[in-house]
Amino acid sequence: MNYALSLRNVSGSYGATAALHNITLDVAVGEVVALLGANGAGKTSTLRAICHMMIRPQGSINLFGQSIANKSTEQIARLGVGHVPDGRGTFLSLAVEETSALAASHDEMSRAWMPSSLESTTTSPD
Ligand SMILES: Nc1ncnc2c1ncn2[C@@H]1O[C@H](COP(=O)(O)OP(=O)(O)O)[C@@H](O)[C@H]1O
Ligand SMILES: [Mg+2]
Repeated sequence: MNYALSLRNVSGSYGATAALHNITLDVAVGEVVALLGANGAGKTSTLRAICHMMIRPQGSINLFGQSIANKSTEQIARLGVGHVPDGRGTFLSLAVEETSALAASHDEMSRAWMPSSLESTTTSPD
C-alpha cells in the first residue's frame, strides 16, 4: 500500500511533559482520515509532531515513503503537509478560510478537495 503519511510508535513531549505515547497510523494516498478524541487526548500534539512544531517526535514518520526525521517544519511543508491550526493560529490576521486556502495553494491534490467557493482565492506560491 502506498501511504501519504505513516506514523510508527510516535511519542512526543513538551519539555518533561509527555503528551504522545506510541501513536501508529497510516493515511493512504487520496484517503481522508479524521483524528477523534477527548479534550487533551493528543490530537493537536499529533499534528504538531508531524510538522515538527513544538514537538520533536520519537518513533518514525514517513511522508510518501520518505522519512522526515531530519526535516525542518519548512521542509515538511514543502513536501506537501498543510497544517491549519485551531485557536490562535500561525497567521493571526488570516481567517480560517484564508488559512485553508494558503495551506492548499501549493498542492494539486489539496486544491482538488477544496470547495469550489475557495478555489478562486488560491494561487500558486511561485
Ligand atoms: N504547549 C503545551 N505545553 C505543555 N503541555 C501541553 C501543551 N499543549 C498540550 N499539552 C498537553 O498535551 C496533552 C495533549 O494535548 P493536546 O494535544 O492539546 O490534546 P487535544 O488536541 O486532543 O485536545 C495534554 O495533556 C495537554 O495538557
Ligand atoms: Mg487540540
